[in-house]
Amino acid sequence: MLKMPFQKSDTKIQLLSSKQFEEVFELLRSIYENQNPEHPMGGSWTRSMVRKELEIGKGQGFFDASGYLRGIVLYRVLSGTQWDISVLGCHPQWRGKGIMTQLLKNMQHEMGTGSLWLEVHEENHPAICLYEKLGFQNIGMRPSYYRDGCAAVLYSLNLVSSNEPLALT
Ligand SMILES: CC(C)(COP(=O)(O)OP(=O)(O)OC[C@H]1O[C@@H](n2cnc3c(N)ncnc32)[C@H](O)[C@@H]1OP(=O)(O)O)[C@@H](O)C(=O)NCCC(=O)NCCS
Repeated sequence: MLKMPFQKSDTKIQLLSSKQFEEVFELLRSIYENQNPEHPMGGSWTRSMVRKELEIGKGQGFFDASGYLRGIVLYRVLSGTQWDISVLGCHPQWRGKGIMTQLLKNMQHEMGTGSLWLEVHEENHPAICLYEKLGFQNIGMRPSYYRDGCAAVLYSLNLVSSNEPLALT
């Protein structure tokens, strides 16, 4: 059982298994259902892609007090202590409650030391604000990366191992 130091009462953060791909897929569908297809920010995940991602990589899920999956972060080890986030998101009605902050802090705790990488659509301001608040550094851009012609912004975070639980803000 993973020790989850950043968890609040009545809710659960758990490692996801590949058997939970359907739950993860449904959550991704609600995250991206109102997305403009010309303005993709990650909504092209299919069931089989989700299942494969959970088989190859890892995932953590935030479950509400009734046991519903409300937030996810999926990630892969690139090599040794280098990690890459594949996708993350919260159900639209569960945003702004600190769920992603909790998930990302738990994930970092599990990874220990190393570096964490991700890319984000240049117009995804909520996600960019989240990463910058958590100390990710902007390390470059991939121009014209998305279908709508927008760039991907690349971020990385140096992971520092600590036995001390970080306080949630
Ligand atoms: C981005 C996202 C994951 C944030 O999740 P969340 O659980 O709402 O985030 P938190 O409540 O932990 O917020 C932490 C910080 O993120 C930033 N943030 C979150 N939502 C924001 C918004 N709508 N506008 C600006 N900043 C925002 C803020 O800095 C916030 O800190 P604050 O509350 O002190 O202001 C969520 O909006 C989401 O699921 N978006 C759709 C999926 C997505 O874009 N994924 C990223 C793909 S790279």
